[in-house]
Amino acid sequence: MLMQQTLALDVYGTLIDTSGVLKLLDDILGEKTSNFSDLWRAKQLEYSFRRALMNRHVDFSICTKEALDFCCAALEVQLTKAQKDALMNQYKQLPAFEDVPAALQQLQVANHRLFAFSNGSYQAVKGLLEHANIIQYFDGIISMEDVQTFKPNPAGYAYFVQATGATKANAWLVSGNNFDVIGALSYGMNGVWCRRNSKASFDPMGFEPTLTIERLTDLAAAMRK
Ligand code: LAC
Repeated sequence: MLMQQTLALDVYGTLIDTSGVLKLLDDILGEKTSNFSDLWRAKQLEYSFRRALMNRHVDFSICTKEALDFCCAALEVQLTKAQKDALMNQYKQLPAFEDVPAALQQLQVANHRLFAFSNGSYQAVKGLLEHANIIQYFDGIISMEDVQTFKPNPAGYAYFVQATGATKANAWLVSGNNFDVIGALSYGMNGVWCRRNSKASFDPMGFEPTLTIERLTDLAAAMRK
């Protein structure tokens, strides 16, 4: 039987579905919705990477807001302040992916320690997990704000291991974002890629995930093998 492992579950794109914001965008943006949503997410992450490299950390919600402003300019979408505020508020209440509650329950039954591990602030992540009604499954929330940088800075993964009292060998980063999986593997933790989009390919950067799963409900069984 596999001993107790410590799991770092990524939040945006892994537990929480950021495409949920599409719904509100749809009314505002019409046919530009899909482009807008993809660009918003891509720019949000790009800004976090760049800020980490420049040592210019801000609350992750600022990256989200700056990316939103960029998208409006780039795609020539005029949004009022009230509409932007509505989108930013929506970001605080995004839904969990459908498989998440069952998956967390299975992992808890398997006696693993579960932590949400995110670029998002402690407060933002707590709010999301409460809103999605999944906070009860977690042993804690570890936010990158504590180290004032963003993933995939190795300082973040090191902080996770230290803060949870885990070891690299028994710590597992679980993410739908392959840059995050590669960041964890590069640091020396286990890395599970939850390949939520069957068309997604893994970045060819010399790392292979410890495990690849199609949905989070496959994780508990996959870890037993
Ligand atoms: C997070 C981003 C990477 O939750 O999605 O950390």
